[in-house]
Amino acid sequence: METTLTKDKLLFTPGPLTTSMTVKQAMLRDLGSRDIEFINTVKQVRNALLVMGEVSQAQGYEAVLMQGSGTFGVESVISSALPKVGGHLLVIINGAYGDRIAKMADVHGITKTVLKYAEDEYPSLEDIDSTLEQNPSITHAVVVHCETTSGIFNPIKAIGEVVKKHGKTYIVDAMSSFGAVPTNIADNQIDFLVSSSNKCIEGVPGFSFSIIQKDALNACKGNARSLSLDLYAQWEGLEQNGQFRFTPPTHTILAFWQAVQEHTDRKSVV
Ligand SMILES: Cc1ncc(COP(=O)(O)O)c(C=O)c1O
Repeated sequence: METTLTKDKLLFTPGPLTTSMTVKQAMLRDLGSRDIEFINTVKQVRNALLVMGEVSQAQGYEAVLMQGSGTFGVESVISSALPKVGGHLLVIINGAYGDRIAKMADVHGITKTVLKYAEDEYPSLEDIDSTLEQNPSITHAVVVHCETTSGIFNPIKAIGEVVKKHGKTYIVDAMSSFGAVPTNIADNQIDFLVSSSNKCIEGVPGFSFSIIQKDALNACKGNARSLSLDLYAQWEGLEQNGQFRFTPPTHTILAFWQAVQEHTDRKSVV
């Protein structure tokens, strides 16, 4: 087995990416989803994600894990955060993943307004400001932090200031930035930050996670357009007994906990 693993090509894609041997080895166990050790690991992972986002439960933030890839995580937020009646999403797009969010809004019948830019162009803060001014029915705004296909980093703090000036809920897809660049979720005024297990924290694929401001999370109750991607119900389940509602990716979570510890160790030596 050692030989096969070391023969694998190095992956230089944003994810899945090459993981350390110790991360792979952490998966060589079979824990039941109701096993107390597994439940404790989930708890540790959720806490570690808050620490990575430089927030805490005491400050009013929650970390929720969701089975599936990053798209499932973003879709769980979009389809749970927007109210069924009166929800209106501003999608700020300058790449493929922004386009995907607009598609999600369409699939779920969510009213949307789109601000679209070229892949090498930053979104205009003036456009965002005037769009929010002229469309008071907009309730939420979403932007991708790093558009992975081009690598452009959008100015999430400045966008957050405009979004909050208008009192809207702020969603950030931080799939290929979270863990690689420091992101203080409270300072950036982010209500929902989404990322996944197999990107910058260097775990293996299998789940996504959201770090959510508590009032914004409470506002999700009853909004879900799907049973499995119901973010509020997922959080409620994790809070009630520490368990997932449906089979969790146990091996992936064990690997992720190892990856989180290695991420923390790397940070402490730089
Ligand atoms: C910025 C961004 N958002 C969303 C996704 C979708 O994630 P997944 O392919 O894990 O569903 C990706 C994937 O690379 C991404 O880079």
